[in-house]
Formats: sequence, C-alpha cells, structure tokens
Amino acid sequence: MRLSFITLATAAAVVNAAVDQSATFVNGTIIGGLQSPPSAWAQAIVQGAVYQAAVKSKHESLEFQQLAVSHAAHNALLWVFHGTRLYNPVDAALRAVIPLIGLDPNSDKGKEAARYGQIAASKVAHARSDDKITNFVDFTYGPKEPGVYQQSPGSNPFPDTPQARFVTPFAALGDISRFRAPPPPKTNSKEYETQLLYVKEQGSLNSTVRTPYDTDTAYFWRESSITGWNRLAGAVVGNKLATKVVESAKFYAQLNYALANAGFASWDTKLAPRDRHPTPHDLGRLGRDVSDASWTPLLRPTPSHPDYVSTHSTFGGAAAAVLRAWNGGSDAINATLSSTVALDNRGTITRTFTSLRAAAEENSKSRVFGGIHFTFAGVEGIKLGEKVATETLKKFDDYWDRF
Ligand SMILES: *[C@@H]1O[C@H](CO)[C@@H](O)[C@H](O)[C@H]1NC(C)=O
Ligand SMILES: *[C@@H]1O[C@H](CO)[C@@H](O)[C@H](O)[C@H]1NC(C)=O
Ligand SMILES: *[C@@H]1O[C@H](CO)[C@@H](O)[C@H](O)[C@H]1NC(C)=O
Repeated sequence: MRLSFITLATAAAVVNAAVDQSATFVNGTIIGGLQSPPSAWAQAIVQGAVYQAAVKSKHESLEFQQLAVSHAAHNALLWVFHGTRLYNPVDAALRAVIPLIGLDPNSDKGKEAARYGQIAASKVAHARSDDKITNFVDFTYGPKEPGVYQQSPGSNPFPDTPQARFVTPFAALGDISRFRAPPPPKTNSKEYETQLLYVKEQGSLNSTVRTPYDTDTAYFWRESSITGWNRLAGAVVGNKLATKVVESAKFYAQLNYALANAGFASWDTKLAPRDRHPTPHDLGRLGRDVSDASWTPLLRPTPSHPDYVSTHSTFGGAAAAVLRAWNGGSDAINATLSSTVALDNRGTITRTFTSLRAAAEENSKSRVFGGIHFTFAGVEGIKLGEKVATETLKKFDDYWDRF
C-alpha cells in the first residue's frame, strides 16, 4: 500500500480551486509502502485533525481557517510517523500551500492559526496514543491442508499487521467483529470450484481469455485504495467545497474514518480463525484438479494476507457509500480519473465513471482480473464496506471528536 499527500492536497484545493491538487501532491511515491489498515488509519487521523482545526476556527477568516487546517494536516501527518521521518516532503507541502493562502505566517493571526492547527493535531494524537495499532499480535498458520490459508508465493512469511482487527475504530464504532462477513463458500463446494476455475483463467499473468479492457481494469485500480478513492472523491466533489473549509473537512473526515473502520473490519473477517482463506495463488494447495505450480497472477506478488474478504473491495464499498450519502443518496456521478501504473510499464490509464456502484464493482472485479482474489471475496467485501460506512456515518456527528 502506498499513501500520499491527500490532506495537504485538500487544503490546497480549498485555497484555490485552480490549483491542480492531484498533480501537485497526490502520487504514490511521496510516502513509501504501507499496509492497507495502517494506510487508512493514518489518513483518518490526519483528516480528524483537519476537521478539528476547521471546527475550532470556523468564526475566523477563510485564510485563517485554511492556514489552521494546513498546520493540522502537517502535524498529524508527522505524528503518524511518530516524528521520525518525512520531515522534508511534509514541510515542503506546507511551505508550498502557505503563499497560496496569503495570510502572513509571521503575523499575529498567522501564528494563531498555526497554533490552532497544532493543538488540533495534538488532540487527535492524544486520543489515538493507545489505540492498539502498535501492539504485538502473533499469527499462527493452520494445518497445511486443502482450503487452509498459507503463505502465498512471493508474499511475506506472516500476514501483514495482525493487530489491525483489534485497533480501536474511529468515531466510537464499537466492536468491529459484529460486522464480520458470513463464512465463504466451502472449498469442496461446486460454487467454490466454479470461481476457482474462473480466477485461474481470468487472473493469470498470461491469460488468453481476459480482455485488454479487463487487464487495464486490474492495473487501473491497483493503486492504494486510500489514495485512489480520495482522488475519486476529489473528482466527484470538484470545486463545490472550495471555500467551505468546515464542510470540506467534514466530508474528508467522514470518508477516511469510514475507510479506516472498513480496513479494521476487513482484517477482522480475514484473520478471525474460522475464516482464513487461501488466495488464488495457493491453487496448488487446494488439492484438486486445478493444481498448477507455474500459475502466476497478473498482479504480483499476491498480498500477504488471506483472500476473504478483499480489502480493496471493502474500501471501495465504504468509500462509495460515503460519496453516495454526500451525493444525496444518488449513484450518478460524472468523474474522470487517470492512474499511472508502474507495473509492467503500463503507463497512464484514464477512465470516466458515471455510477458510484459501478465504480465500486469494477474496483472489486479488478482483483479477480488481477488474480489475487476470488469473486465472492469481492462481493462480500463491498457489502462489508457499505455496512461499516453506513454505521460510521450514523455515529459521526456525535462521536467524531473522540477520534
Ligand atoms: C510526487 O510528488 C512529489 C511532491 O510534489 C514530487 O516531488 C515527486 O516528484 C512526485 N513523484 C512523481 C513520480 O510524480
Ligand atoms: C508470460 O509471458 C511472458 C512473455 O509474454 C513470458 O516471459 C513469461 O514467462 C510468461 N509467464 C508465465 C508465468 O507463463
Ligand atoms: C461529464 O463531464 C464532462 C466534462 O468534465 C462533460 O464534457 C460531459 O458533458 C459530462 N457528461 C454529463 C453526462 O454530464
């Protein structure tokens, strides 16, 4: 997973709608690879701090509010890395935004705005200081039998961040395990066999049945879901919130709280002992006629965690649900987004989306065309993300500032 400067990008967009936020700040290289749940956790913390600063400065001038939220984003982002790295790019992003805002940072008001942002970030940091994301949680593999999750070829020896299902959710969502997805199809069922043959054919690196469009679907959505769905949100929202700091901050806090909670819920389903499910790349261990040691997925390596449910799909379901709520309950959008894909030197792919549901479904299918998830893992992932997002939105107004 990769994460980039969405937050300061948001602040920049607030400053001046003409600033091309995505070109300026959002790319996958600013911050190195992060696993799925921590990438969402980080962004939720940053957006929580931004919203706190926006609410506290709402009676001040627009410039004051913009400077306050930019400092909140800066400090929260550095805190996320526990003050050990990324000073240069984070400082550079703030330095670039300040002149666009236009409030003299050395004036009394400028200093006060900075202080508002710093206090907001500190409040979030205190609230999240013991949220269990730093705890050690061990992982033990089940028996090497058909249908039992094992390390996939090319992935890490142990699944990423096993503690993620125990992290305190945002907005006081409570016990995340109550959202746990139903058990996946039994590995000896007909349905399972059908889906296994499907992903084996469609998701193989050198598939002869996958269409070029579907290959691009896998590449297009490969980006970190946190980066991708925040970018899509930016494309959907456009300039509508350009001078509405509180509304903009609230929307992005809702989106990223929902994404973070969706990540924890997805991990809960993945790593709950009953549900650990092999990835498609574990075909050989399923002990049936599909064994093929040379099989390679299009998206490689296979991520280091069980198949069920697909976190990409869970993130997409959650983000689409928040966007739908923002959009007055409608799925209709008109958003164009480009994604630059380094894998296999694919280059830039541009797509236009007219439906949130269709975007979430395409995002989900991208993992099957990529050979790293079964279809049922995507279908249930979307449902899980929608449920978690709906509940997060219900709790948001009362509990957002518990972070
Ligand atoms: C990503 O953004 C940073 C900051 O704007 C920039 O320095 C870097 O060159 C960008 N990387 C790519 C690959 O565009
Ligand atoms: C896929 O095809 C490429 C050439 O297009 C070849 O180099 C590679 O070995 C093939 N990979 C597999 C797993 O068959
Ligand atoms: C979608 O937006 C583009 C420009 O961004 C515009 O040309 C097109 O007409 C819009 N389509 C609809 C259906 O509104």
